[in-house]
Amino acid sequence: MRPTDYWLLTTDYFVLMKPRAVFVCQSCGTQAQKWMGRCPECGAWNSFVEEQVAEPATAGAASGATRYGPASSGAGARLYADIDTASAPRLSTGIDEFDRVLGGGIVPGSLVLLGGEPGIGKSTLLLQAAAAFARRVGPVLYSSGEESEHQIKLRGERLGVDRAPLYLLAETCLERILEEIGRLKPALVVVDSVQTVFSLKLSSAPGSIGQVREAATQLLFTAKGQNVPTFLVGHVTKEGSLAGPKSLEHIVDTVLYFEGEHHHAHRIVRAVKNRFGAVSELGVFEMTGAGLRPVPNPSELFLAERPTSTPGSAVVCCIEGSRPILVEIQALVSSSSYGNARRMAIGIDPNRLSLLLAVLEKRAGLNLAGEDVYVNVAGGVTVEEPAADLGVVAAVASSVRNRPLRPQTAVFGEVGLGGEIRGITQAGRRVREAAQMGFARCVLPKGNLDPSDAGPAAPGCELLAVASVAEALDQLFG
Ligand code: TYD
Ligand code: MG
Repeated sequence: MRPTDYWLLTTDYFVLMKPRAVFVCQSCGTQAQKWMGRCPECGAWNSFVEEQVAEPATAGAASGATRYGPASSGAGARLYADIDTASAPRLSTGIDEFDRVLGGGIVPGSLVLLGGEPGIGKSTLLLQAAAAFARRVGPVLYSSGEESEHQIKLRGERLGVDRAPLYLLAETCLERILEEIGRLKPALVVVDSVQTVFSLKLSSAPGSIGQVREAATQLLFTAKGQNVPTFLVGHVTKEGSLAGPKSLEHIVDTVLYFEGEHHHAHRIVRAVKNRFGAVSELGVFEMTGAGLRPVPNPSELFLAERPTSTPGSAVVCCIEGSRPILVEIQALVSSSSYGNARRMAIGIDPNRLSLLLAVLEKRAGLNLAGEDVYVNVAGGVTVEEPAADLGVVAAVASSVRNRPLRPQTAVFGEVGLGGEIRGITQAGRRVREAAQMGFARCVLPKGNLDPSDAGPAAPGCELLAVASVAEALDQLFG
């Protein structure tokens, strides 16, 4: 035996004998053999925590579903044409706005993650949905690791939850929760929150990435295996960190995020991933003394406190998911007292703002050097569509000139670097929403008045088509 062989043999021996521990980044899940101060994958500092790896024997001893995977019948591959698509109908949660974000209701056997900052209303929404679902469809198991049954009941009383087959379980042990699911055979399961659940199989602390993943994976197998839809609550901080939710996004079928400011009454639930429906679908709610109330007409809410004759305010028709929404964009331009002019954007991409300001300077002759520019989308909403470009441009120009825009005028259109206004999708629906909200005029891209298509039109709403930023500003200032 050569010395090198001997060395290999001994090291192998030690590897086999040592209990296997790995260091796992709590922010992104990267594994490493040794501790590191900074994660090489996501760049998080001090995020590595030692975790024990599940013994292969225990992992293999789990149910057959574990070995075959969640949706497996164990019978091998099947021909595409033979697969029955007469799928089960979607189940309504009893809350319209919630059904809308889910893509039309709950899909049987789906696993849905509802993320959001602490205190934003996740437990409230799910308790309301659970109660309504229990009344209409069948028994619901609401398992909470954060509140006692008594506390949940007190909350339920505020929400007007009456006699419904709703089972409450204050439990953090994953195996116990799975046992209860097996025993009660509920029509819906809610686990609040996935960070509090721990599995006896792992020795790491609840909330660590290993535990969170194990809980989600086991609940996924149960959801698919027993065809019971499951909601998981996940806490995220402002940075989207805190072990878990981000790394869970690829395990679950649907990811919903709660948005909104604590000091605003309205909350937005947005779908960011949905295997069964459109993403960027929105549900709008208002937090009241008796829980979350769906807001069927969000435009009304977002425009409620709009100043009508103040400079620096423009109304934009956006499409969020499948629905048109009017939002107000506000701009304030004031001369900078320091050398460096500040540019600040809330609710729109700051890079997009810089680009639009450059277009305004170059193509519309506005002088913005040495001016601080602040842009805000009212109501704490975030607008990502390029259709909002023209609204930003209009609001900034209005503030620079210190003249309000023409009253009762809504705008939309993408602004190009050449100062041209480009056409955007679904112009007709945007115009109709504006008309419905009582706007008498709509400034829109010329490209959207294509005669070959029926074109946008709405009774009582005049259409002012523009091809350039300069033309748009002419129309907007009357
Ligand atoms: P909660 O659902 O507990 O938030 P999360 O589960 O996301 O941490 O509720 C958050 C806030 O909602 C809480 O600060 C109190 C408020 N609230 C109301 O205003 N009205 C209500 O009817 C309820 C139940 C809660
Ligand atoms: Mg909660």
